[in-house]
Amino acid sequence: ATLMATTALAQDYPDRSITMVVPFAAGGPTDTVARLVAERMSADLGQQIIVENVGGAGGTLGAGQVAAAEADGYTVLLHHIGMATSATLYRNLAYSPADGFAPVGLVTEVPMTIVARKDLEPADFPALMAYVKENADTITMANAGIGAASHLCGMLFMQAVDAPIVTVPYKGTGPAMTELIGGQIDLMCDQTTNTTEQIKGGTIKGYAVTTPARLDIFPDMPTVAEGGFPGLEVSVWHGLYAPAGTPPEAVDRLATALQAALADPGIATKLAELGTAPSPAADATPAALKAKLDGEIARWKPIIEAAGVYAD
Ligand code: MLT
Repeated sequence: ATLMATTALAQDYPDRSITMVVPFAAGGPTDTVARLVAERMSADLGQQIIVENVGGAGGTLGAGQVAAAEADGYTVLLHHIGMATSATLYRNLAYSPADGFAPVGLVTEVPMTIVARKDLEPADFPALMAYVKENADTITMANAGIGAASHLCGMLFMQAVDAPIVTVPYKGTGPAMTELIGGQIDLMCDQTTNTTEQIKGGTIKGYAVTTPARLDIFPDMPTVAEGGFPGLEVSVWHGLYAPAGTPPEAVDRLATALQAALADPGIATKLAELGTAPSPAADATPAALKAKLDGEIARWKPIIEAAGVYAD
């Protein structure tokens, strides 16, 4: 009877709406990617995907909620590089980033930009770095908590200027952006999915991109390496996860829907406008995300340990 019930479940999946947890505030970069993909996945699955924002603690609150959820395919998590960095940054996580989830597939990889309030003095990126070093005790930098991409980039930024800066944590860089535009905070390193429109609109200042090459959307903006800081290179890969123990049939069905979404030309166009692109279909698979996650946990561990940044 159990076997029949399991088979029926797999065949009927999904027969009701699915919750996609975004571990950061609404309106920010992760939310933007999630909502784009969720809408197209819903069409493929024939069931609605409801995006739920569970911000706080650098993405670990939302991730923990999904790790503890019923492993039935009806709760999933869209998270980014923070899944890998939090494995080292947090000493007492209630879940295991490496083993607490069933990876579904990679979604996209997003460049970051070093941005500032629009009236910050320095004219270009090298001048900014000198200015920040000089004024490290008064400059403020926003991030989305320990484990956020903005936190990771901020950590590399402080290593680059060789000075500690006062950081202000938010539940996501969506709300942080509001304060940067308002001039209540000086600096941020944030994903192009959140900064492109503001830089182009002139409501904030864009200084450099964190990719090895310049971006088509900002041909005049230098790379961090061009400015003399190659150590600031970082890209924010995103993945889709279900809780560990989710039936493989459901995970595979989610992966098929993810691949359909990423193949949608409308999504590719929208992501290109924001400086990024969908992951290729071959990467939108459980095996590819598992390999990426394990590789990235190992890659960032010594860098974080050398920086000596931890949370409990
Ligand atoms: C967000 O969606 O708010 C971000 O991805 C935050 C971050 O990781 O910097």
